[in-house]
Amino acid sequence: MTRIKKLPSFSARTVFAPAGSRHSIHILPVSALRPGMFVTELDRPWLGTPFPLQGILIHHQSQIDLLSSLCATVTVDLRFSVCDCCEALLNDSKPVQLSFTEVARQVKNGEVRQPGKEPAVHHGTQGSALEEEILYAHAFFTELRETMQYLGETLQQDDPLDLKPIEGLLCKLTASVRRNSDAILWLNRLHRVDGYTYTHALDVSVHLMVFANFLSLPQKDVERLGMIGLMQDIGKVLLPPDLLCKKESLTDEEYALMRSHVDASLTILARLPETDRLVFETVERHHERIDGSGYPSQLKGDVIDLYAELAGFVDTYCAIIRQRPYAPPLSTRKAIAELVKLRGSKFRETVVDQFIQCMGIYPIGSLVELNTGEVGVVIQQNITRRLSPRVLIILDTDKRLEKRPRSIDLLMEPLVPTGEDCYRIAHSLPEDAYGINPMDFYLA
Ligand SMILES: [Fe+2]
Repeated sequence: MTRIKKLPSFSARTVFAPAGSRHSIHILPVSALRPGMFVTELDRPWLGTPFPLQGILIHHQSQIDLLSSLCATVTVDLRFSVCDCCEALLNDSKPVQLSFTEVARQVKNGEVRQPGKEPAVHHGTQGSALEEEILYAHAFFTELRETMQYLGETLQQDDPLDLKPIEGLLCKLTASVRRNSDAILWLNRLHRVDGYTYTHALDVSVHLMVFANFLSLPQKDVERLGMIGLMQDIGKVLLPPDLLCKKESLTDEEYALMRSHVDASLTILARLPETDRLVFETVERHHERIDGSGYPSQLKGDVIDLYAELAGFVDTYCAIIRQRPYAPPLSTRKAIAELVKLRGSKFRETVVDQFIQCMGIYPIGSLVELNTGEVGVVIQQNITRRLSPRVLIILDTDKRLEKRPRSIDLLMEPLVPTGEDCYRIAHSLPEDAYGINPMDFYLA
């Protein structure tokens, strides 16, 4: 049998395929392709490429050159490949560092198949790698989203409730938040959930866990706040859908009905065989405000405990960053500016200040212009230096779309191409700057 020379050393990532073929599918950088390999997927759609079929057997180097101008990574299926060099792949399953864009694409397209190993915490950053954590936590987050939708159906049918599966998932997600809280913020951003109520519940839960972790609250309480976020508005699933979707101002009667969701949520929680007292009381008070303008009991000042205030504050933040029936979404930057107006009146100053610290001056997903004129999206915070986040560059110096967005970590002080200065943020930008469509980068 003819043996083709051994493949040079390169990284390959084994992904999970159907039973019996677990090691047959590999994601490789295009530079690692060799004649004889069968490419089943690109890191972009086939549409718009010169390849008429969705799958290509590599015959010539010219095909590899063409692919390298179109994409960064490809999926190779060894079952359809015809070279001996592919055997080397079977013995080489070292993980490859997927680009952030590729990870975002896989999450958006539902292509992440298995969580794999728990990400390692690096001593330097005290956290795990962002891309690795997103891929790992994806399965738990997806399950949580699906469980919430199932819970809604259970409520409609008056069946007994069981929150144990949710508790288990929140425990895993809390561990993920502790390793890298930016990962769950991205998962929440990249996932689509049908219906405002579930989207909002996940939004609040995720942001509460991230905020609670930032405040160094005990792990058990981070999980409880995650549960509070999911359950505090669950009573809305029993309200008339027309009321929840109404674009016009609510009448007094409708407003009273909307406010009844707190009681409805408590009634649902009371159906549980065991109710966590802290969860129950926090849900009961999440619409109270320190100036006494809240409901249902118009509590004032310190009578409202910290967790209820955190829940109410994050609830307000999450309401204004998402599309609502009666108002467009605000960018994270504008939302924070709005919340600053409530500092000292509706919410304590320290809560507002700490939340701004937690989200960072340049929050996850916000756009920034660099000193080179390039435009990027903030993909990861640097805890020690908030002014130096990790940024995905999506527009070049002439504001043209980058074909292959690359990420730079401003903490590492990378030099600009001229070598005369380090990359830094010149200023932040509105979300619609330069006609950017986040969908072009799988970021919305
Ligand atoms: Fe609420």
